[in-house]
Amino acid sequence: MVENTHVLVVDDEEVVREGCRRVLGKGYEIFTAENGKQALDILAEKSVDIMLLDLKMPVMGGKEVLEKTRESYPDIPVIVITGHGTVDTAVECMKQGAYDFITKPFQIDQFRITVERAADKRRLELKAKQFEAENIRNLYDLNLEKSRLRTIINRMANGVMVTNRNLEVVLHNPALMRLMEISEKPKSPVPIRDIIKDKDLVDTLKKLLSGETPDEESISQEIQLQKNTLRALSAPTVDPDRAIAGTVTVLEDITAFKQLDQMKSDFVNMVAHELRSPLVAIRQINSVLLEGLAGPLEEKQQGFVERGMNKIDSLLSLINDLLDIAKLEAGKFVQHQVPTDIGNIIEDIVALMEPRAQKRGIILTHFLKDLKPVQADPKKIEEIFNNLISNAINYSPEGGQVTVSARGLGEYMEIRVEDTGVGITQEELPKIFDKFYRVKHPKTRQVVGTGLGLAIVKGVVDAHQGSIHVESVPDAGTTFKVLLPVIDTRG
Ligand SMILES: Nc1ncnc2c1ncn2[C@@H]1O[C@H](COP(=O)(O)OP(=O)(O)OP(=O)(O)O)[C@@H](O)[C@H]1O
Ligand SMILES: [Mg+2]
Repeated sequence: MVENTHVLVVDDEEVVREGCRRVLGKGYEIFTAENGKQALDILAEKSVDIMLLDLKMPVMGGKEVLEKTRESYPDIPVIVITGHGTVDTAVECMKQGAYDFITKPFQIDQFRITVERAADKRRLELKAKQFEAENIRNLYDLNLEKSRLRTIINRMANGVMVTNRNLEVVLHNPALMRLMEISEKPKSPVPIRDIIKDKDLVDTLKKLLSGETPDEESISQEIQLQKNTLRALSAPTVDPDRAIAGTVTVLEDITAFKQLDQMKSDFVNMVAHELRSPLVAIRQINSVLLEGLAGPLEEKQQGFVERGMNKIDSLLSLINDLLDIAKLEAGKFVQHQVPTDIGNIIEDIVALMEPRAQKRGIILTHFLKDLKPVQADPKKIEEIFNNLISNAINYSPEGGQVTVSARGLGEYMEIRVEDTGVGITQEELPKIFDKFYRVKHPKTRQVVGTGLGLAIVKGVVDAHQGSIHVESVPDAGTTFKVLLPVIDTRG
């Protein structure tokens, strides 16, 4: 809704006052005053946009009113009303700050135009004022926000580093200086090399600046200082035109966490080792019993010993998994790599798994195409497909289908293990390669496992400079895709 323009008409002649009211009509609200004193009272009380002011009045003359109005209400445009032949006075009033003048008797059109122009001026001025006030408020808010952000960044335990697009550090916090063991406060902007010595991190930032990575993506990496290990999380920043403006890196000290992890791994490794030898001994004794070398067993006794054997075997397999993980983490798992034929391995494992699949009414098939040898540790490659295929069988309902296919694809062998099982939700997917992670699914609750299988698979694939990807649709099926580099035969 457009507000009415408030016009104060100051004139001792009633005809003039009423005339103004009639002529202006819609869109205007008129206040009237018979003399200067009344006019000033109204100005003090009401919000007036424009004043029409007669010069010749009793009590207080127009000139004095003009003077006072200019003094106290400089924003209100004043239009003076003069009689014929007193143009000189009008001009003088203009010099004193009146906005315009009209002469009596009024030319109606002229009168309207003059008042409208004053109303426009008044509106524009008000708008400009509003903008200015808004600007000041925005600036204030912005500064407040900036100061809050500063305080947060300066008090953070994590190091924060912001660069511009020339890879100069334009913002850093005390935590960063502490983590980087820099005692002198550097000037801003600082060349990156004065703060970050780690080449990999600098390369990451360069990559982010080149725009190769999508801007929602952040890159996580560990950097090793003399004593400490840090985790750096870096992401590009973009300006309002979506152009890359620089980078932000947050650094966290994970030294204590790393030490704890190492202690835990050492401990698990030690315990597993200590458990394995007596278990192997017990197994041997049991197999002596089963083979009847210690005298024939009754059927019942045979049954108990067999059940004991099964438990020992699953315990041994868990212990072996734990030891594998420990070796993988120490980088000592995949050591003997030889030219290996993936096709043979897959055929063997499929044959081995066939009875398990059949028992569950699952059809297990395999396809091999354009096979090429890979440089690998065959025993460890077996572990990859052992785990993937047994998962595919375990996490598929009866009557499902599991397909294993291997084919040469340029410099890689691509091996897919596809199933028509329960699938994995999008949220769970990133976690399934974590140690001990198992998805809670009502249909697979009865499957026993420790959640180490895929952690080992990932470790073995990485140790072969390969990669593993998984795609899954809940209730439809899952596909694991492994890429392993083939031996370069071009010499
Ligand atoms: N093909 C698959 N379909 C559906 N879910 C799967 C599939 N493969 C793995 N998962 C899910 O990922 C989890 C982790 O798998 P992983 O092989 O690491 O452990 P596990 O099978 O539970 O135990 P184990 O260490 O004995 O292999 C599983 O518990 C399961 O929930
Ligand atoms: Mg498994």
